[in-house]
Amino acid sequence: MSAHVSPGGFTGTSPVWLREPADVNALVPALWSASARKADGVLHIGGLAVPDLVADVNTPAYVLDEDDFRARARAFRDGFAGYDVYYAGKAFLCTSVARWVAEEGLCLDVCSDGELTVALRAGVDPVRIGYHGNNKTAMELRRAVDAGVGRIIVDSFHEIERLADVARQLGVTQGVMVRVTAGVEAHTHEFIATAHEDQKFGFSIASGDAFEAASRVLAEDGLDLSGLHSHIGSQIFDTSGWEVAARRVLALHARIGTELGRVLPELDLGGGFGIAYTTQDDPSDPAVLAEQLTKIVTGECAVLGIAVPHLSIEPGRAIVGPAMCTVYTVGTVKEVALDGGATRTYVSVDGGMSDNIRTALYDADYSCTLASRVSSAAPVLARVVGKHCESGDIVVKDEFLPGDIAPGDLVAVPGTGAYGRSMASNYNHALRPPVVAVKDGRARVIVRRETVDDLLATDVG
Ligand SMILES: Cc1ncc(COP(=O)(O)O)c(C=O)c1O
Repeated sequence: MSAHVSPGGFTGTSPVWLREPADVNALVPALWSASARKADGVLHIGGLAVPDLVADVNTPAYVLDEDDFRARARAFRDGFAGYDVYYAGKAFLCTSVARWVAEEGLCLDVCSDGELTVALRAGVDPVRIGYHGNNKTAMELRRAVDAGVGRIIVDSFHEIERLADVARQLGVTQGVMVRVTAGVEAHTHEFIATAHEDQKFGFSIASGDAFEAASRVLAEDGLDLSGLHSHIGSQIFDTSGWEVAARRVLALHARIGTELGRVLPELDLGGGFGIAYTTQDDPSDPAVLAEQLTKIVTGECAVLGIAVPHLSIEPGRAIVGPAMCTVYTVGTVKEVALDGGATRTYVSVDGGMSDNIRTALYDADYSCTLASRVSSAAPVLARVVGKHCESGDIVVKDEFLPGDIAPGDLVAVPGTGAYGRSMASNYNHALRPPVVAVKDGRARVIVRRETVDDLLATDVG
């Protein structure tokens, strides 16, 4: 953070990357879905004026640009031609989205019985579903195997036994991948490569557990090991983490071939491709990422003298993140004095950490804009906060908003599609907001707002 006098004369405390905008009404297109634009200060998405849209569904509301979602899905499918692209449903999943994923030719990654239920309800071909999770119960495994899920990514020795039992009982052979930890932790622009990973997912390559897991799976008649799976982190912009991970994972892949006599046909490199939440972020095009990852893997395979396995990836955030924004109504505005004589304008909205936990949980940065009118007021450094009983209930830590921002104004936050609604909670008995899909000037509620009856339905008194 730095105290600075901005070119426009603003004096305040803001992160160094945040600059006072020349026009506080303007959108930064890279942060928004493709159809987002402003007309007389009013935000339009999918051909609809946002104030008209929320007049019907109320706020807070998530607005999902269907064409943008589909275009991003296709960009991964085409950019990563020759790969299987699994959309990571944990980022956001509902029946409509599962259908769009299938229609655009992607596979689907689920990590719970609930996500599997939605996928099956949407009619996704079970063979094209991958199932993750570090603690799948016997019941959950049975349901997945019974449904015909294409691949189950095993994460512990207990699970290998459990899954082998299920496959035996059902008399089937189940496709399996082994989740490995490559000792690489990648987030944003940095990564850390260590010998060990102190975390719950996967089998460590360094400790030998990953090799042992592969040999145990291969020893089970009912399990068919198709490959190794490595996911190194999230919101990654630089491929150097994948490079280190690929070297370690492919060395294991080659060892399984020579020592266990099984040339694994596949390899999954996971998800984690970064998006632009603010002007700090500069994500790469999927085709560029594909070229870089393919070069890393083919280069490493050449060094090892092995055939290149069939590759897959699991992007979630990079498909749904920028396709969705959240619209809030401003309730109160408060100016708070900071050390050194600066002030910060606290703008309280009608949602918060119950619809977007990422700011509180990960210290994530977001941006926002006044969505309901044009303003000629000078920008002020604002913090958009929620209505929950937590001082950490922050939606947007730092943004320049017009100085006349007032109760009743609409504020829209871009880039909330991933891990927004999917991580939403009922904290303070908040009702989780709806997801409204917009396309060609029409709006369709694809997840309705929760009601008080929904809340009370589980409270049996
Ligand atoms: C195994 C696995 N695959 C894919 C993803 C999707 O990551 P992202 O949404 O960052 O692309 C995750 C996210 O946590 C994950 O754990």
